Amino acid sequence: MQVHVADHPLISHKLTVLRDRTTDSPTFRRLADELVTLLAYEATRDVRVEPVDVTTPVADTHGVRLSEPRPLVVPILRAGLGMLEGMQRLIPTAEVGFLGMVRNEETLEAVTYAERLPEDLTGRQCYVLDPMLATGGSLSMAIDFLVQRGADHITAITLLAAPEGVQRLESDLADVDIPISLVTAGMDERLDENGYIVPGLGDAGDRLYGVVD
Ligand code: PRP
Ligand code: URA
Repeated sequence: MQVHVADHPLISHKLTVLRDRTTDSPTFRRLADELVTLLAYEATRDVRVEPVDVTTPVADTHGVRLSEPRPLVVPILRAGLGMLEGMQRLIPTAEVGFLGMVRNEETLEAVTYAERLPEDLTGRQCYVLDPMLATGGSLSMAIDFLVQRGADHITAITLLAAPEGVQRLESDLADVDIPISLVTAGMDERLDENGYIVPGLGDAGDRLYGVVD
């Protein structure tokens, strides 16, 4: 798996404000949205395009357009929803599939409670959105869904990742023979005893949308 940690002062600045415990939800949502658009620029470096002719007001020339089938963007509910608009801003014609997953906070295992993806993903490039890669259970399961349906190129975009999660993905996906990459705004130190990223930003879903139960 190819891992890219974005190194840009604007990304670091926005991430620092996002981490701050005093940042309120509206500001958190806006920053998450802005960060994704910046990360998407890097994450879509290999998006497939095909040649096309174009006539400018001055002359005929050659350009490119996004290939068919269009890329599929897959936010992992709940927190991944906070990254969808930022991604769509960069690829407005992408299709969107949804995965609902929640981590059991005792076992730290991910459970899938919703799935709305095209049945056949043969030849599709997929972009999975989830702000946090902690133990890696959620992202590993999400990527497995896409691989089983035939996706042939998968990029995960996260705001923060923990080394433990990256290791888990690398081991879970060792036998997968399609290109898989991770683009993240930050690689943090470790997980704490509750499976939270340290220093992290807390519970991304709660900070975006409020505390449930
Ligand atoms: C959070 C986060 C990831 C997952 C990461 O979701 O958005 O999906 O935890 O943890 P993992 O790498 O250990 O699997 P959560 O389960 O809190 O659900 P939510 O998005 O509905 O808040
Ligand atoms: N999920 C979160 O929202 N934050 C973490 O630090 C770990 C998992």
